[in-house]
Amino acid sequence: MAADGTPLLELEGVSKRFGPVQALDRVDFAVHAGEVVGLVGDNGAGKSTLVKAIAGIHSPDQGTIRFEGEEVRIKGPQDATDLGIATVYQDLALCDNLDVVANLFLGREQVSAGPGQVSRQLDEVKMEHETADLLSNLAVTIPSLRSEVGTLSGGQRQQVAVARSLLGDPKVVLLDEPTAALGVPQTKQVLELIRRLRERDLGVVVISHNLVDVFAVADRIFVLRLGRTAGEFKAEETTEEHVVGAITGVGDGGDKNNHHSDEQEGEKP
Ligand SMILES: Nc1ncnc2c1ncn2[C@@H]1O[C@H](COP(=O)(O)OP(=O)(O)O)[C@@H](O)[C@H]1O
Ligand SMILES: [Mg+2]
Repeated sequence: MAADGTPLLELEGVSKRFGPVQALDRVDFAVHAGEVVGLVGDNGAGKSTLVKAIAGIHSPDQGTIRFEGEEVRIKGPQDATDLGIATVYQDLALCDNLDVVANLFLGREQVSAGPGQVSRQLDEVKMEHETADLLSNLAVTIPSLRSEVGTLSGGQRQQVAVARSLLGDPKVVLLDEPTAALGVPQTKQVLELIRRLRERDLGVVVISHNLVDVFAVADRIFVLRLGRTAGEFKAEETTEEHVVGAITGVGDGGDKNNHHSDEQEGEKP
């Protein structure tokens, strides 16, 4: 793990409010190259908001984001993509009726080089080749690249979504609940895939409810509670009990005065 030196991505004092809800409150967060950070916290803790602030979906109300040491402003998803930040959302955004190759290249279909009408045609052969290369590099086994994605298992779909996020050659990958709703063997596959992202020296942020999965894959565990940093742990130096304590606030004297109000879905100022 390249935990020394400048983080790939660093947030300092990032806050985000939705109407009465302080979803993020002066959060400092960092991920280094070759590091997996587990981002945990109860429902409504601000995990998705943090990821969306990095991914350019929500711009922070205040705070600083640095990428490779340089202050950046991420005003939209394209800015995040251009920097080299890829996000795999919980709903995966795959097209069930398209095959694996088509899903990987959705929105970035390649055209053959060359003059005239030929250049407008999608280069199916090239895309299939690159898909096969990418999946085999990641040791992802999908029965056929021409399978419709809707016919794949949950674990295979997750792997396709992760593979797709790598096509732009990102440096940071954000994964929102990649193992939710997966069975044990499929979870294992996805955790293996996350380890391979680390081997490629990517910085990986994994949101998960499942502490067993987090401990299985994360180098560092970052706990949010009611929008605030509630703890940061090295995975090998802590226990599930400590992390649960930070998640629930047990042992920190509670925070009855926290101005975060819970359970306020979908309200805009
Ligand atoms: N678009 C939004 N509009 C209003 N409130 C929101 C929005 N997104 C999130 N919130 C609120 O912000 C808080 C943090 O939400 P979220 O980041 O989704 O938490 P988590 O992913 O940890 O479950 C919650 O109280 C949630 O209701
Ligand atoms: Mg969430």
